[in-house]
Amino acid sequence: MKIVKADLGYRNDINELIKEQWAGPMIVSKGHVWDTSVLPGFAAIDDNGNFCGAVTFRMSDGEFEIITMNSLKENQGMGTYLLKSMMNIAKHNYCQRLCLITTNDNTKAIRFYQKFGFTLKAVHLNALEKSRELKPAIPLIGRDGIPMLHEFEFEIML
Ligand SMILES: CC(C)(COP(=O)(O)OP(=O)(O)OC[C@H]1O[C@@H](n2cnc3c(N)ncnc32)[C@H](O)[C@@H]1OP(=O)(O)O)[C@@H](O)C(=O)NCCC(=O)NCCS
Repeated sequence: MKIVKADLGYRNDINELIKEQWAGPMIVSKGHVWDTSVLPGFAAIDDNGNFCGAVTFRMSDGEFEIITMNSLKENQGMGTYLLKSMMNIAKHNYCQRLCLITTNDNTKAIRFYQKFGFTLKAVHLNALEKSRELKPAIPLIGRDGIPMLHEFEFEIML
């Protein structure tokens, strides 16, 4: 497994993945709209050379925010590998905090990040109402039939 910078030949794969999985390229987080097609990112490449995941992020003022993270080979360590890689990059860029947003329906991610060591920093109640004004494609019902209502902000100090 390895990660490769998005701009080294994987930008189209990442754009397609984000389009399929998140109705991208625009992603809303805490009331901000991010264009993932121009954000820095990495592709995850498996041992056979296949594209199998991606992450996009932004950095500012000592903060590293993961905007999207997807594993196309779940439960085989890919998500953990991607996250550890992002922590290393954040540290090398002198970030003190790594954070991300998940929605309340994403119970797998909520479990995954907490087991990894992330802390729930904030719950932005009913944030999805505002997000839908900025991006109407966000569905009303999310994973497992759970209404998508709130943003959960997780953080880990570096
Ligand atoms: C959340 C997500 C990134 C996790 O990725 P992943 O590749 O499944 O992550 P891992 O394989 O490292 O860990 C997942 C689980 O598999 C387990 N696991 C890791 N390696 C394993 C292996 N070799 N064999 C069996 N289980 C393994 C982990 O312990 C973890 O267990 P848990 O479910 O009890 O927490 C992935 O589910 C995903 O892409 N979801 C959709 C997009 C999303 O929600 N992204 C997050 C919001 S930005």
